Amino acid sequence: MDTLECIKSRRSIRKFTSEPVPREELEELIDIARWSPSYKNSQPWEVIILSGEKKKGLSKMLVGLLEDGKENTPDIAAPISWPEAEANRIDYLFAKRKELTGIDLAAPETIIKAKKANFNFYYAPHAIYLFQDASLSQWSLFDLGIFAQSLMLTAHAKGLATVPQAFATDYAPEVKEFLGIPTSKRLILGLSVGYPDMDSPVNAYRTERSETKEFSRWLE
Ligand SMILES: Cc1cc2nc3c(=O)[nH]c(=O)nc-3n(C[C@H](O)[C@H](O)[C@H](O)COP(=O)(O)O)c2cc1C
Repeated sequence: MDTLECIKSRRSIRKFTSEPVPREELEELIDIARWSPSYKNSQPWEVIILSGEKKKGLSKMLVGLLEDGKENTPDIAAPISWPEAEANRIDYLFAKRKELTGIDLAAPETIIKAKKANFNFYYAPHAIYLFQDASLSQWSLFDLGIFAQSLMLTAHAKGLATVPQAFATDYAPEVKEFLGIPTSKRLILGLSVGYPDMDSPVNAYRTERSETKEFSRWLE
């Protein structure tokens, strides 16, 4: 697939087929993503790929913690409030989703449902966690974001699908313990990975973007 087309046509997928992805295919995702740029070529990324019983066990633990009312303790805090432009875009996304699916993403009962779907990795056959040493600066967080995008674009180019999930890091200490990640690391992102179920209405909505001129200026 052409690079430009790949960037423009990638989208988050929230319904997967149950077909597992061959190990070599998953290995190739990581193998390509490691060519991402990073500050001083420090390559501050560590990856865990989860499948089968281990993935099911993690989902069960996460759903259990949610049902027990456990407080969220992600390593990367969610914003308490958003600046106006970003807040407007979030409102737009929620309104659009409500209009198309009838689901109100801001309603408390929907949030619980959405979290459960996230904790089950949308029933994708695989999940990937990205983490790094907690002593690294924000530049390394930036680097890991680039790595995540490379991973998602590679997956898309190969006919696979992904969704990046901050929710998957809600219970960071418990996830790290379950995965054998030392407490000296910070858990950055979880992703679901598999083959997209494009017949599902969940995957029908293509998110929009602000016009380029709204966020860029030319100075000469
Ligand atoms: C850092 C980050 C965290 C995200 N967390 C979640 C999440 O927890 N659950 C989810 O379903 N989608 C999550 N998303 C996906 C966004 O909602 C999605 O990227 C955005 O709406 C744009 O849609 P697109 O990916 O289809 O282009 C996350 C995306 C990013 C980059």
